[in-house]
Amino acid sequence: MSSSGLLSQVPLPAFSTGNDRSKLLMAGAGLLAVFLYKLVERRNNDGRPPMLKYWIPWLGSAIELGKNPDGIFARATAQLGPIFRIKAAGQDFTYVTSPELISAIYRESKIFEFVPIRMDMAYKIFDVAREVNEDPVMTEDLFKTHHAKLSPKNVGEIHKRYGGFTYESIQIALDNSSDTPITKLSPFLKPAAYDAALYAFFGKSYDARASYQPFIDFDNGFPLLQAGAPKFLLKKTLAGRDQLTEITKRYLTGPHSDCSDFVSSIEEIANEAKWPLKDVANIFITDVWAMQANAINVAYWVIALQLMTPDGLKPLIDEVDAIRNAWKESHPGIQDDTRCRWIMESTFPLLTSTIQEVLRISSQIFSIRLVKEPTTFAGYEFRAGESIICATRAVHMDEEIHSNPREYVPERYLDGAKFTKNGRPVPNHTMGFGGGVSMCEGRHFAWGELRIFVALLLTLANIELDSSSSERPKFMWSRVGLGIMPPDGDLSIRVTKRIL
Ligand code: HEM
Repeated sequence: MSSSGLLSQVPLPAFSTGNDRSKLLMAGAGLLAVFLYKLVERRNNDGRPPMLKYWIPWLGSAIELGKNPDGIFARATAQLGPIFRIKAAGQDFTYVTSPELISAIYRESKIFEFVPIRMDMAYKIFDVAREVNEDPVMTEDLFKTHHAKLSPKNVGEIHKRYGGFTYESIQIALDNSSDTPITKLSPFLKPAAYDAALYAFFGKSYDARASYQPFIDFDNGFPLLQAGAPKFLLKKTLAGRDQLTEITKRYLTGPHSDCSDFVSSIEEIANEAKWPLKDVANIFITDVWAMQANAINVAYWVIALQLMTPDGLKPLIDEVDAIRNAWKESHPGIQDDTRCRWIMESTFPLLTSTIQEVLRISSQIFSIRLVKEPTTFAGYEFRAGESIICATRAVHMDEEIHSNPREYVPERYLDGAKFTKNGRPVPNHTMGFGGGVSMCEGRHFAWGELRIFVALLLTLANIELDSSSSERPKFMWSRVGLGIMPPDGDLSIRVTKRIL
């Protein structure tokens, strides 16, 4: 049917009588535009997941996605089912929100890949040269060694190093705040957690203190960098990254025999491949970002969310004290020179459940996979090169799986808690580390790191809410898709050394 034919079928509005022809023409043109738009939209949707309706071209649903991701995913799932497309800022991505479909994507790792995304990020975000990225040594050697050195078999050595450094870093934080017992939680906790992790991997030859602010500047601009923002908006971000590169280059060219086996193994591979120093430094910066961007925020939220409960930190302190005393009694006369043997050799049911709850409630992760070849999935067609995003938070916020999902419930995962939907178990109920073969490689380190950090902090410090301040931190929703949301705002706290 021609467009004029269609127009002739449209009932004429009341103002079309007499000389109001221009209004009629405008109304007709409007209807024609809507018709053509719908036609194109339908054709584009052929065989593809449905698109969430939007009204502003190019911008699409970007504003709602940035402001209220939980709301938009719940609304889209209710309207369109667990697989749909959202248009935002010119980009059109498919999102998957059900645990079954997410798990099916993770299982099909030969079709839905992560490695090309990891390499693209190394190039675009961390400035690792294309030639280095595409050198087969990268995937065949470096990635494999990276994976092996972070496996449960090898990670214990890094934890031991981490224990000693954490003890020192917390003492320094306590000394620094001894003159001002009222302080903010972020500047008290985050630098200590940052330094300890960096030293555990790189040794004290790495200038952790000099790298902290550049890291923060780089990390703050990460969402803009990832979105491909123009350079003039990225001045601070890129300056932070350049400073990190320089600090890491200095580290690599200076003596650093105090580094972990993880660092020396990666460095050996890079040196044998004769990659330029700048690129080797930037490969290590990808590690620094992966190891710091999320874990220090989890540590922050464990303390902050717990302080905001009526019991404060007491339930966690009681557990930590009881375990430390029991360990001491069963190991008389044994000097725990790593400062964390008693933690590594014990289980902490409440602390573990608390960390898992923080991973559930504060993570906002888009676990992306790239479609390798044309494929049909969940009844829809996908082209090679398309991205599919596993919106893991939608599972975390599904009230059928987690009752009162918006509430922080530290005991949620205690006593072998089971999670179900439609009467069926949901094994992947909590996916703070993603899933499948590309699940976070650092998760074994991160779990031990968080237990050690929190247990030592609660052993060494008294931390209380400052009752004169009503400021409370919120999640920074604008970090959509990027991991653990940092705090927006902070908590005022009173810190003193704990006399044991
Ligand atoms: C609480 C802390 C952490 C969180 C929440 C976290 C989260 C994640 C997530 C969601 C992914 C993507 C996984 C997927 O899409 O399935 C990832 C990947 C990765 N993470 Fe972590 N991460 C944390 C700590 C660490 C640490 C400490 C390291 C290193 C020491 C690390 C290294 C990596 C690496 C190398 C990958 C890429 C894995 C691959 O390509 O197969 N992460 N992480």
